[in-house]
Amino acid sequence: MCGIVAYIGQKDACPLLIDGIKRLDYRGYDSAGLVLIREGRLEMRRAAGRISALERKLDGDLGGATIGMAHTRWATHGPPTETNAHPHCDSSGKLAIVHNGIIENYRVLKQFLEDLGHTFDSETDTEILAKLIGHFYEGELEKAVRRALCEVRGTFGIAAVHADEPDVIVAARRGSPLIAVVGSDEYLIASDAAAIIQHTPHVIYLSDNEVAVVGRDGFHTTTLDAAPVTKEVEEIEWTLAQLDLGGHQHFMSKEIFEQPEAVRTCMRGRIDMDEGRVVLGGLSSVARELIKAKRIILTACGTAWHAGLVGEYLIEELARIPCETEYASEFRYRNPIVEDGTVVIAISQSGETIDTLAALREGRDKGAMALGIVNSVGSTIARETDAGVFLHVGPEIGVASTKAFVGQVTVLAMIAAFMGRRRHLSQSNCHAYLDALQGIPDLIEQALDLSTQTRKIAAELVEMDNWLYLGRGIQYPVALEGALKLKEISYIHAEGLPAAEMKHGPIALITEDMPVVVLAPQGHWYEKSLGNIEEVRSRGGRVIAIATEGDEQIAHLAEHVLYVPRAPELLQPLVTVIPLQLLAYHAAVLRGCDVDKPRNLAKAVTVE
Ligand code: F6R
Repeated sequence: MCGIVAYIGQKDACPLLIDGIKRLDYRGYDSAGLVLIREGRLEMRRAAGRISALERKLDGDLGGATIGMAHTRWATHGPPTETNAHPHCDSSGKLAIVHNGIIENYRVLKQFLEDLGHTFDSETDTEILAKLIGHFYEGELEKAVRRALCEVRGTFGIAAVHADEPDVIVAARRGSPLIAVVGSDEYLIASDAAAIIQHTPHVIYLSDNEVAVVGRDGFHTTTLDAAPVTKEVEEIEWTLAQLDLGGHQHFMSKEIFEQPEAVRTCMRGRIDMDEGRVVLGGLSSVARELIKAKRIILTACGTAWHAGLVGEYLIEELARIPCETEYASEFRYRNPIVEDGTVVIAISQSGETIDTLAALREGRDKGAMALGIVNSVGSTIARETDAGVFLHVGPEIGVASTKAFVGQVTVLAMIAAFMGRRRHLSQSNCHAYLDALQGIPDLIEQALDLSTQTRKIAAELVEMDNWLYLGRGIQYPVALEGALKLKEISYIHAEGLPAAEMKHGPIALITEDMPVVVLAPQGHWYEKSLGNIEEVRSRGGRVIAIATEGDEQIAHLAEHVLYVPRAPELLQPLVTVIPLQLLAYHAAVLRGCDVDKPRNLAKAVTVE
């Protein structure tokens, strides 16, 4: 949520900052702004709407500045207007900040400042912080930032500049990600690597309660209490090409079609077919303890939570360890019972989701082993875990998660086999399972051929405003995921349900205007799923079945059938989710929605 880029160096800052926030706009895209220091003055431009609206306000008069900051916003306090857009200034108009996060005690701080005579233009918590820093400013920005942040409760990733100090940017974080980029004669601050990868792969990840001060010829890092901190310069593994559309109309479509390769990369070097086992270097330090786990808690939000639900089946089935999947936002606050032998595994694409991070900390503080399944190397969750497994599916830019989901399920499938093999799974059974897992990318490739058919179905049903998704067993989380994909990018209301629950209420909704997507691949739950299809049909509902290729019986029952290749039951979700992603994608395109930047959403939910 919210993207920050700040630059100090020799180059023209304005185009560089605009380019940076364009690469970050998936973090928030309701308004944008920038500030430059030129000739001892702040030059600020802000606009409601997309970054293009900001660009129209730049009118070519801002060249020559070599220090500045830009921001793309996802509104928390106050609607996305120009006045609420960042940067925000102190009362002198000389100090500006950009901020990602939420100042929880903003009311108290505002009252304090109002009592001193300060007035406020915007409805944001950020303006209060800017004025608080200004209040403590006595000629040294670094000190003022530190002093003000000691008064703040909540989360922040901020960057600050002052017109009287044109050679310094001060950045600080607590809870919201921030990286500092070290070039030869330039420095950048950014919310994530996408903004800066074209400059250098060398970055420093700030930890909570740390401050970075970057100047024209050096930088230093301290804690908020001014204790010096030595940071390691790390290398980002993503490339610039991975951040481009690569010929696709949207990142979401690019990422859907990248899935076969993403799953291959995720498994590369991790499956030892000679021994029939999984090798997960990231877990080697904890493997002995892990296989003795008495209980596993998977915790995540949104799509990652759906991946966790699939993982629950995989882990219980293969490792025979009790496993449950918890919404991170609930787990973190409900004083969960964490007994000896509990392992908490946080699942997160971004590695920055605030609730998932807090749930991980809650588990760890109560004595659990804290593991992570994360895509973004260097992210906060990745750095706070005892051990973990990276997805290695490459950057996910589309706000709707697709390839991260299949990556998360693939990693969970590998973890389940990793533990299962060390507990009770025979070499030959594990071998057969891993053989099937290795075949999944080819099956995903075949399922992607359904793109044309899903577009036709979407075209026929796109005017329907309410959809149901039904699944049983391991297909239930896939139903949830299909419904989430549809609603978040096409704004069609969709619900995912365990198929048997339909009879306990939702069946009342079924009419001929209600498309019902039923996950009915052959296996354990097949006959029962057919029964659900009959029930929907007999009430006039319109059934779209996801079925196993060659299944002719289902063609007589459903209005549309999307055939996916046969896969072992435990691995079917990796294949059945593909037509649901495609269906949602085409429905959103046909409805003219902004697929990569859906209304009200943002990638990486770093606020509660
Ligand atoms: C939905 C989606 C979200 C994320 C959720 C968790 O398409 O992308 O539901 O899955 O916000 O994000 P991460 O995985 O970054 O923790």
